[in-house]
Amino acid sequence: MFSKLKIFLKSKLVFANFFLGEWLWKLRLSIIILLIGKKNNLGKALNGLKTKGYYVFDNYYSNQEVEQIKESCHFQLNLIPNSYLSKYNVDDYIENLDIEENNISIERMSGSIKLKKINQTGNYLKKISQNFFLLSLSLIQQCKLAKKALLIFSLSHDGSFKNDKVPGSVSDKNNIASRMHFDTYYHSLKAYVALEDITQDNGPFAYLEGSSTDHSLNENYLGSARVNHNLKSDIQKPHEISENFKNKYKDKIFYGNQKKGDLVIMDTKGIHFASMLKKGQRELLWFYY
Ligand SMILES: [Fe+2]
Repeated sequence: MFSKLKIFLKSKLVFANFFLGEWLWKLRLSIIILLIGKKNNLGKALNGLKTKGYYVFDNYYSNQEVEQIKESCHFQLNLIPNSYLSKYNVDDYIENLDIEENNISIERMSGSIKLKKINQTGNYLKKISQNFFLLSLSLIQQCKLAKKALLIFSLSHDGSFKNDKVPGSVSDKNNIASRMHFDTYYHSLKAYVALEDITQDNGPFAYLEGSSTDHSLNENYLGSARVNHNLKSDIQKPHEISENFKNKYKDKIFYGNQKKGDLVIMDTKGIHFASMLKKGQRELLWFYY
């Protein structure tokens, strides 16, 4: 009896917290935009998050900075001792493998690798992860005071990138993020910098514009909030959204066809997916807050 009451109260609390959080987020962003205007970078970014769920800063990083980021990431990739990977086949999915020597963890599938926590590997990437502008944005977006971002280097290719740490090539079947989904049921921030030019060929990231405030998804968001608080959800995988949902947004799909050095910021509550890499390679540096 007592445990049933406890679950009931917890459910109500999760429900109230979800709507209150949503309302406070909108209020917070509206007030700050009103105070600082929409002409400066912070105002542009906040207005983008509030209205579309994303914003793009062209040429945020210079060519030289991008090259230095890439060099640091490739250096870490090549530093992974072969002993960690020799027991796996090309097509094996490696979910999370800690590499003690580099202090990173990796996720790998055919033709694709992610180097996680790469901000811990040296002073240059550490400095990149301490980007004050992005930390301020994250503070406003999710009321979370952080000193750094978690950086993830992501590389995918069609077989043309010759490196025995990333063998194989990407294909439809192993592209996990190709399904439409949201990351969080609350407003949070992530960003990426394109480390090379991204076109429709090398599989741009795609985001449904305005979906982060789409109330028709509240059932999914609430389901995800319930799962997060160890409560049962009516929906099996609440963060996965059906393909049909895309039809509603067919003229409002943002494809991140970015130029090298562009920075894309986004609300992790919005619906997004990774489109298929058809040709070439794609390298991105992700910022998580
Ligand atoms: Fe995602």
